[in-house]
Amino acid sequence: MADITLISGSTLGSAEYVAEHLEEKLQEAGFSTELLHGPSLNELPLQGTWLVVSSTHGAGELPDNLQPLYEAITETQPDLSAVRFGAVGLGNHEYDLFCGAIRSLDDLLIARGAQRIGHRLEIDVLEHEIPEDPAEAWLSDWTTHI
Ligand SMILES: Cc1cc2nc3c(=O)[nH]c(=O)nc-3n(C[C@H](O)[C@H](O)[C@H](O)COP(=O)(O)O)c2cc1C
Repeated sequence: MADITLISGSTLGSAEYVAEHLEEKLQEAGFSTELLHGPSLNELPLQGTWLVVSSTHGAGELPDNLQPLYEAITETQPDLSAVRFGAVGLGNHEYDLFCGAIRSLDDLLIARGAQRIGHRLEIDVLEHEIPEDPAEAWLSDWTTHI
């Protein structure tokens, strides 16, 4: 099992690029990683450290490629008490439900017993033309907690 399993949820690619950038930085820091774009629940280790990176679409909804995972966790209610995770969201503050997807995922994982490490990062893509920059700054703090 990798030190850190990255999970990306993206429709147009931005969150995927952020996840890839964070994976590169984690590897440079000496962590082993696995990056899964829109994984199924079966693909995920139900222990260890996850880093979830997701944009928001629709009206505060998850990207299409993360909806099956969200539904599987909701339906099967796995025990995630051996999981610690970080949460990074991308959104646009002009929408009513800013970063709704990462907030829903954060709530769901905590409800299943997972423990979030550090604060949830919510990147406003209108303020940050290069979302990798705030994500990288957040990561350097996050890795001190894992
Ligand atoms: C159709 C559409 C709906 C969106 N809805 C929301 C929303 O409800 N809340 C939010 O914070 N951002 C919303 N966004 C902004 C996206 O989350 C943002 O553009 C993000 O960078 C897209 O990342 P992606 O390329 O990984 O999908 C929406 C964008 C689009 C195109």
